Amino acid sequence: MPQNVMITGAGKAVGLGYNLVLRYLEAGDTVVATIRKPCPELAALQEQYGEKLTVLTMDIGSTASVQAAADALAKKTDHLDLLINNAVSVSPDCDKGFFDADLDYIARTVDITAVGAMRVIKAFYPLLRNSMTTALIMNISSEAGSISRCYRTNLLDYGMAKAALNMATMNLYNTFKEERAVNIFCVHPGWIRTDGRPDNPAPLSSYEAAEILRVLFETKRHDFDGYRFITNLNEDYPF
Ligand SMILES: NC(=O)c1ccc[n+]([C@@H]2O[C@H](COP(=O)([O-])OP(=O)(O)OC[C@H]3O[C@@H](n4cnc5c(N)ncnc54)[C@H](OP(=O)(O)O)[C@@H]3O)[C@@H](O)[C@H]2O)c1
Repeated sequence: MPQNVMITGAGKAVGLGYNLVLRYLEAGDTVVATIRKPCPELAALQEQYGEKLTVLTMDIGSTASVQAAADALAKKTDHLDLLINNAVSVSPDCDKGFFDADLDYIARTVDITAVGAMRVIKAFYPLLRNSMTTALIMNISSEAGSISRCYRTNLLDYGMAKAALNMATMNLYNTFKEERAVNIFCVHPGWIRTDGRPDNPAPLSSYEAAEILRVLFETKRHDFDGYRFITNLNEDYPF
């Protein structure tokens, strides 16, 4: 059955968010794509898919901006069946190690990547709660957010942000699980050429990765008892 899907961070045509939008549209769903700045490729999709695609502008670093977007969407639809928190932010020092990185960048990355997803969930929760089925939230995390499997000495801000997103996922799972109206997971989406560069050694294009996730997500909607941190191959990944 067609569903209402919302995907954050969809404004980069080579990125995962845009390609998730494309895959859900191709599957016949109604999609809300959120961006920060205009994206010509999304505008072209809007021409093609008309009412099936809504593009919302919001900055997930701002509660007011996220709430304004939720209020605007509530005028257009009464429910959401799936929310994919895909947006992420990394600092310019992401690749540096502890002694070289400016630590003052870290809080911003955590704020956008983890708290930002929570702002989105909170503002759009009434629409998720109105779903006729169990609504599903998929937080796009990363293996880099696993504390127990951490092997890196760089990606400090990114790893800390994704670990925080994973913690938020567990906490919100605990918050929602009694009611069983909204389910939530965090997922490592695979290693993906999200920069669109052909020399990127990652095995999956964003378009390929998006379809693997789309198919996987539907199998998780009613799973309230399974492990919360999964990979694109539906394996459990240690927190
Ligand atoms: N590539 C991989 O192998 C891999 C592996 C593990 C996990 N992931 C995860 O997969 C997801 C997609 O990766 P990606 O490389 O496609 O992501 P990305 O392009 O770096 O980020 C996605 C979008 O987030 C948006 N964004 C940043 N700050 C924002 C803010 N304050 N408010 C609203 N939106 C904001 C960006 O918007 P702008 O276009 O306006 O900057 C961007 O389009 C990410 O969550 C990433 O961590 C990727």
